[in-house]
Amino acid sequence: MSRPVVAFAKGAWQYPSARALVGEHAEVVEEDRVAEAAGLYCDSNKPRVDAAYLDQAPLLRIIASASVGYDNIDVAECTRRGIAFSNSRGSLTQAVADVAYLLVLSVFRHFGEGAGWVRDGKWPSGDAPYGDDLEGSTLGIVGMGAIGLALAKRARASGMRIVYCNRHHTPNETEVDARHLTFEALLRTADCVIVLTPLTDETRGMFGREQFALMKPSAYFVNVARGKVVQTEALFEALAGRQIAGAALDVTDPEPLPPEHPLLSLPNALIVPHIGSATHQTRERMSLYAARNLIAGIQGKPLPQIVNSAVYESAARSGSSRV
Ligand code: DGY
Repeated sequence: MSRPVVAFAKGAWQYPSARALVGEHAEVVEEDRVAEAAGLYCDSNKPRVDAAYLDQAPLLRIIASASVGYDNIDVAECTRRGIAFSNSRGSLTQAVADVAYLLVLSVFRHFGEGAGWVRDGKWPSGDAPYGDDLEGSTLGIVGMGAIGLALAKRARASGMRIVYCNRHHTPNETEVDARHLTFEALLRTADCVIVLTPLTDETRGMFGREQFALMKPSAYFVNVARGKVVQTEALFEALAGRQIAGAALDVTDPEPLPPEHPLLSLPNALIVPHIGSATHQTRERMSLYAARNLIAGIQGKPLPQIVNSAVYESAARSGSSRV
């Protein structure tokens, strides 16, 4: 009997262990054979899955992303075509919270500027740039989910106060003594605003000139979510004009940031290359979660981390066994 075919997207991060695991249950092929595939392994960068892509892959039943974010996937289109889509939620909470905390700490203590100061031979000439204490400062978390909670625990250990905005109160707010505020109130209150919200139609470009103008001139800005949540030009102006004190960014728009990009000329911007989840252990876990979702799907079982569970409901209604 022929084995189901699973295609691995070109350039998507993957671990040999994940490929081998899928290989125990399916024929693993490269993405150029996606037209034959029942399953597709991808990540949050590659490929862009839209109607045109899916037209080239008429046999697809399952797509599993080795990522938590999935703004490269047209989930509604997958659902319309009866394709189950899963992400790897739960696989990277601590790793991303570590980087979020590291960036908060770095921006408060002007680490990027200090490192540049040493590199530029300024050490012998005077005082290094001074930063600010985390203790007693207020961290404003925009998008309080599991990563936000893990970050808030780290920040509380440094003596920070926590405020957050979400559409709803989070049930865990008491665990970290976090206060729910509106978005505008958070911008006015926080000494550091950190973005943890996913990129959606609602959050795209939610930080522009108006929002940076509401922040305190002494406040910092950190983004570990998605670059497109921020209007890059507005952020550049706010930093260059010292309307805010500094920024630390794990994500940017565009991404990758070209070496000649104006943001890179700013001493008060610390930029790292989207490495929130980039540890060997976490990336392998993300990869294995995607592999397990694919295996469940090709065995006709529900995907453990299904995103569009509506596909099951419509399959049940129509009596179809496609998923
Ligand atoms: C994700 O999983 O969405 C991350 O951004 C990848 O690092």
